[in-house]
Amino acid sequence: MFYKQLKKFPKNFLWGASTSAFQVEGGWDADGKGPSVQDALGARHDDITDFKVASDHYHRYQEDVRLFAEMGLKSYRFSVAWSRVIPDGQGGVNEKGIEFYNNLIDELLRYNIEPILTLYHFDLPQALEERGGWNNRETIDAFVEYSRLVFERFGDRVKYFLTINEQNVMVLHGNALGAQSTKKESYQQAHHMFLAQALSMKLCHELLDDAKIGPAPNIISVYPETCSPEDVIAADNWMAIRCWLYLDMAYHGEYNSLVWAYLCDRGLEPEFQEGDAEILKGAKPDFISINYYATMTVSASRNDGTDVTHREGDQQIMYGEEGVYRAAVNPHLGKTQYSWLIDPVGFRTTLRAVWDKYRLPIMISENGLGQGDELVDGQVDDQYRIDYLTMHIEQMQLALTDGVEIFAYCPWAAMDLVSTHQGYGKRYGFIYIDRDEFDLKELKRIPKKSYFWYKEFINSNS
Ligand code: BG6
Repeated sequence: MFYKQLKKFPKNFLWGASTSAFQVEGGWDADGKGPSVQDALGARHDDITDFKVASDHYHRYQEDVRLFAEMGLKSYRFSVAWSRVIPDGQGGVNEKGIEFYNNLIDELLRYNIEPILTLYHFDLPQALEERGGWNNRETIDAFVEYSRLVFERFGDRVKYFLTINEQNVMVLHGNALGAQSTKKESYQQAHHMFLAQALSMKLCHELLDDAKIGPAPNIISVYPETCSPEDVIAADNWMAIRCWLYLDMAYHGEYNSLVWAYLCDRGLEPEFQEGDAEILKGAKPDFISINYYATMTVSASRNDGTDVTHREGDQQIMYGEEGVYRAAVNPHLGKTQYSWLIDPVGFRTTLRAVWDKYRLPIMISENGLGQGDELVDGQVDDQYRIDYLTMHIEQMQLALTDGVEIFAYCPWAAMDLVSTHQGYGKRYGFIYIDRDEFDLKELKRIPKKSYFWYKEFINSNS
């Protein structure tokens, strides 16, 4: 739609940036931290990158926050490492871990940067994993106990909480993140996470008057390859299974009926225990947070044993599923160096769809470009990242003008960090961290060209 005038971003818009604990902190066993599943995964993949130090944010958070402040960030989204504050996932509290987050939060507030805290970002405590992880209903209780600790210790200063980062990615592509589960188990785990999330949202509202809490799945638009009604249905199917299930559960506390029919048909439906339905319905989020990188395009399943494919390098891991969808190529979109599609207009489409369905204010907790940035003469010219972010912000502004309520944009990432499965060479940050996969060098912080661009942008938009 063409507008003569675009709506301006509100003055108090939370321009920010994101990270997650295991990807930046390092200090993997410092001061009493327990291991997480990511530490166990890293140990299995220590041929890819030295993950134990990551960006050494644990020891250098003051310098990092100073750089965030100089960039003009209004908000910073980070996650608490559950096993740093409760080393075994349940039980004893590690006060040193609490102290680290207290210091980080205080430092952010000193510079008027709004802390946005993710409770759980892919790093379940290994001790819980060894007792069955999310297959075990005790993990629900552990999550609630951990949430209580976070709300009680940090809720006097933190006003925005995200529950679970990309639950849908953990369920659909858990193997890439270290889990070894069958599909049936994955949906049972998802059910337990939905319960944990509902209980945690409820507790947040009981304990904290001013705090706001919401889910943070990876939400995109799924396009049909053609206007054939079969392709359209396939896109609809995959959108429901991949995306709407997770927001419907957070918002309605009820399984999306299409997805439930699909799960029952395949014998994948999770087991409900008495009281589950009430728990799921017992909480509502205050906002919806989404991570958006790119759209997907699908065609109808051929149902002939050839739907499942693996396209190496694709961000959305386009496997396809017999009877549901088949991955298709979108000839209209460019790709990043890592073969992730670039679709800023799809960002607008996605924001409109989420707003239409739930009418809750939206935060964007991730969006960004991974690239093998190069340090040349002490500088990083990442114009491609500036172009990528500019295109997405333009579409976000169009969505805002369309009437979508958006209050925060936190691109991935505030600084370089370890990618979930592609090492340190794949960089996302506004701040370059001078280290290689194995040579940690001095881990010097070097603002990239995009850092100065974002600083200028925030300054002129707030
Ligand atoms: C999101 C995750 O899926 O994508 C982040 O929440 C992740 O943790 C980001 O780093 C980029 O993915 P990757 O695989 O390039 O690190």
